[in-house]
Amino acid sequence: MRVLGIESSCDETAASVVLDGTKILSNVVNSQMDIHAKYGGVVPEVAARSHIEVINPVINQALKDSGSSWDDIDAIGIAYAPGLSGSLLIGTLAARTLAILKQKPLYPIHHVKAHVYANFLTDTPPSFPVLALIVSGKHSELVLFESHQKFTLLGQTQDDAVGEAFDKVAKIIGLPYPGGPSVAKAAQNGDPNRYKLPKAKLSGQYDFSFSGLKTATLRAAQKEVGKDFTFPSHQLAPLLSLQQRDDFAASFQKTAVDTLVDKTLQAYQQFTPASVVVAGGVAANQKLREELTRRIPIPVNAPPLALCTDNAAMIATLAFYQAQFEKPIDPHTLEIQPSLSMSAQTMTIAPAS
Ligand code: KG4
Ligand code: ZN
Repeated sequence: MRVLGIESSCDETAASVVLDGTKILSNVVNSQMDIHAKYGGVVPEVAARSHIEVINPVINQALKDSGSSWDDIDAIGIAYAPGLSGSLLIGTLAARTLAILKQKPLYPIHHVKAHVYANFLTDTPPSFPVLALIVSGKHSELVLFESHQKFTLLGQTQDDAVGEAFDKVAKIIGLPYPGGPSVAKAAQNGDPNRYKLPKAKLSGQYDFSFSGLKTATLRAAQKEVGKDFTFPSHQLAPLLSLQQRDDFAASFQKTAVDTLVDKTLQAYQQFTPASVVVAGGVAANQKLREELTRRIPIPVNAPPLALCTDNAAMIATLAFYQAQFEKPIDPHTLEIQPSLSMSAQTMTIAPAS
């Protein structure tokens, strides 16, 4: 079964053709990173406009690269939730239109769940039950999958996602957007033990909170340069030496990674899953991969870097599995769901009549 996946939930316009949920035939990603870098973050209106400009060429390129004509495509998967409204709308309208015109079954895909499915595209696909640590710019979640259909959200962030914290801390200490890769790079030259930053204490055993860690980093940086907490964060970076900046990057990264690995290990010990996987943009973080590998007793699956950040191969892959268990959706009625959580997903999809 050849599935065309389409992704436009944030600042990447992507399309991909995947065979039987295992083999990538094409994977086209048009990143808007350069456009948003000058604003220091994603500007929703700018993102939506860019999606409009490139969605058709990206889809055509994905078909061409895969050597597929429309006759070869068996289904379309579309990331319709969650994400930025304007961004989701462009991909979803394109997918609905194509499903109607080309008469293809359409599968609505939850973007966050799809991140996990990048792991099914590796040489060692996970076996159920699968414990998944999903860490991206908008999400930090621990999910236990009993099967493709049945999963439990063990915990999630109560405020900022871990990727968001990387991005905000980067801004504070004067590193470029996107913060994840630039903090990771600066951390290589820094001392992770120089600044003691707190791990959040939460009532939910598997919940996360990264807003406090971001603020603690800000407070420590203000203190380091001899200012009090009223000193504006955007004026701090020039006062830090390069060594202080790198030490903050390393100390922040260590605390964030330790928090993620602590909770993943606790969940592993409680549920003893057959596989542990990490997914989402922050799964590209080398330190996180190393620490998971070092502390989790079984091998931890991680997708190749290109499949950690947003892409449509993961959308096509999840659509393939969804097609085994679910009826396609009526393309005339599919609506975007910008804030749909993973736990609500199965209840909100109405099959085509
Ligand atoms: O999954 P993704 O591409 O988009 C969302 O669905 O949010 O994740 C983007 C996030 C950004 O916050 C980015 O800073 C972070 O992933 N990221 C990283 C690394 N590469 C990307 N965070 C830490 N270390 C990295 N190497
Ligand atoms: Zn994502």
